[in-house]
Amino acid sequence: MNKPLLSFILAVAGWAVFHYGVFPVFTPEEPGWILNRYVYYLVFTAYLIAVNVAMKLQPPMALRGLYVFMMGYYFYDSILYPHVPWTLFITYMMLWAIGTFLYVSQDPVTFREFRAPIVKTIVGEYKMARIVVFTVLPFLVGWATYNSLYPKFAEPVELRTVHPAPPATTKVHGKTYALEEVSNPFRVDEQDNYKDSFPFLDADKSEYMKYVTEGGTVFFENCHYCHGDQLNGLGMFSHVFNPTPANFIDPGTIAMLQESFLFWRVAKGGPGLPNESTPWSSAMPPWEEHLTTDEIWKVILFEYWYTGWHPRTFDEESSVG
Ligand code: HEC
Repeated sequence: MNKPLLSFILAVAGWAVFHYGVFPVFTPEEPGWILNRYVYYLVFTAYLIAVNVAMKLQPPMALRGLYVFMMGYYFYDSILYPHVPWTLFITYMMLWAIGTFLYVSQDPVTFREFRAPIVKTIVGEYKMARIVVFTVLPFLVGWATYNSLYPKFAEPVELRTVHPAPPATTKVHGKTYALEEVSNPFRVDEQDNYKDSFPFLDADKSEYMKYVTEGGTVFFENCHYCHGDQLNGLGMFSHVFNPTPANFIDPGTIAMLQESFLFWRVAKGGPGLPNESTPWSSAMPPWEEHLTTDEIWKVILFEYWYTGWHPRTFDEESSVG
């Protein structure tokens, strides 16, 4: 067998055995402070020198140059710990390449020896090598160029707005509501004043409670499957939905919203969400298809009554729990 080839095979096979068989012992934790990864590296270097010397392989200069360069690569890529940043790695490898070049060009004889295989490949003395180099290389360069130019962006992060700005008006059951003006008809007193609290309709709250109860019926007939019978968003179906059904106990949902906003959301559901709230496949049904306008207002009344939150009103900045 020709000696340079044997030397090369021993180097590659030796590296494979060392790297995959021995090196894992030193990662991620070294067995001891003397027995560390740098000692491993020295042992591997010693192996490389030893086989070539002991078997009198006398690898040609080009191969030696390759060994030296690859040992540097191996060191900075796998041995040195912690791993150096990419830019520093390139810098070190450039210095290492210069060092390797100095090594192979230390005198004209070694340099000629180093150049010989390259020249022979180019002029066609090594036919096979020439064919391989001149067909494979353009492909490799092409592939590398393609790979570096082809955009690899991750999909843009889409931020979803949980509480989008509502439209100015919404049409429910043929009637158009200006959301900034509309208020819960079951919460307005005789003078048409909007109240965020009770009692006001009658002294013993019986009328108010009647609407709340009716709203509760609507809730337990339609909503509790998702929003939970404690209104905490943990209904029996809630676990399969993403986004999860709103938790009305949480101060971040109905407590900070106006009733007209809820009216719009309940009537239009997930399909009625504007673009900034997509993509999210909200399972919230458009309730206008199943409930009357009054039922929607009543279930909203019930949600505030049950949770104890007060809806946010137009003049107040925040609501009181
Ligand atoms: C199939 C499950 C499901 C049912 C049934 C359901 N919801 Fe929802 N609901 C959701 C999901 C999921 C969300 C959260 C995503 C969103 O805002 O669209 C939600 C959100 C809401 C919101 C918005 C809360 C906020 O903070 O913006 C309100 C209000 C609401 N639901 C009320 C109701 C009412 C009232 C009913 C019954 C009439 C009901 N939901 C029935 C799934 C459901």
